[in-house]
Amino acid sequence: MTSASKQPGNSLAGKIALITGAAHGIGRATASLFAREGAAVAIADISEAGHSVAEEIVRAGGKAIFEQADVTRSVDCRRVAERTFHEFGSINILFNNAGIIRRASVLELNEEDWDRTMAVNVKSVFLMSQQVIPIMAGTGGGSIINTASGWGLAGGRRAAAYCASKGAVVLLTKAMAIDHGPQQIRVNCICPGDTDTAMLRDEARQLGEQQERFLTDSARRPLGRIGTAEEIAQAALYLASDASSFVSGTALVVDGGGLAGSA
Ligand code: NAI
Repeated sequence: MTSASKQPGNSLAGKIALITGAAHGIGRATASLFAREGAAVAIADISEAGHSVAEEIVRAGGKAIFEQADVTRSVDCRRVAERTFHEFGSINILFNNAGIIRRASVLELNEEDWDRTMAVNVKSVFLMSQQVIPIMAGTGGGSIINTASGWGLAGGRRAAAYCASKGAVVLLTKAMAIDHGPQQIRVNCICPGDTDTAMLRDEARQLGEQQERFLTDSARRPLGRIGTAEEIAQAALYLASDASSFVSGTALVVDGGGLAGSA
């Protein structure tokens, strides 16, 4: 380890990170943080807003590219991985973070929304990892981080497909950690609690609830507030960096104590 890489703010120096769903919210905050920590960042998102995230990073002196992609499509995932490898020469960190939510019970949900939720939240992890694992294995290993949810560990109301998808992400994470540990690839997931992003605000709309009231209810947890995207990004940084070098197969809950139990 060089002396430069021991400095705070330099924990990802020389690393290359591919982040899905990085045009907004948690992914965007993570792309900015990883870049500040010295990583070259490839941003993949279905939304064109990823362009401005990459531009912002480059303006601040970091390295970033944006590739528009629908991570439910294998052809898009291949293109993203190939471009990242071509531009930066390797991939050391994969953050499978893109996700959607449909707030509906089994009776309310239509088949299309079930399929889309499973495709964006689960299939994308499979497709992106399938592209990136051979690259990581060829360079001595890496870190894969998947965004699950507190609702991957406990159920929630009117979120049947979402809970099913995030539960699948938790166990897909563990299965991948077992399969790819021998290649020195660590695989972990983050289980955020309610975090202040467009997704959370959209949930109130989907449920037909008043936004302020919904956010007040969401804050009911031991720390008495919802989280910020930056707080989830810090957990991703820990799992991406060598600080977590012996951590694999874990589901890291970052939720202000929400799942701790009842008072
Ligand atoms: P967000 O809606 O702000 O960001 C999600 C990003 O994913 C957007 O940029 C969107 O364009 C992108 N995306 C959606 N479908 C895509 C596709 N098919 N291909 C490529 N990109 C796609 O939401 P947020 O909150 O930042 O969510 C990030 C992750 O965190 C998701 O996996 C979500 O399920 C998870 N999460 C969020 C929580 C919250 O309270 N905000 C709580 C627990 C988990």
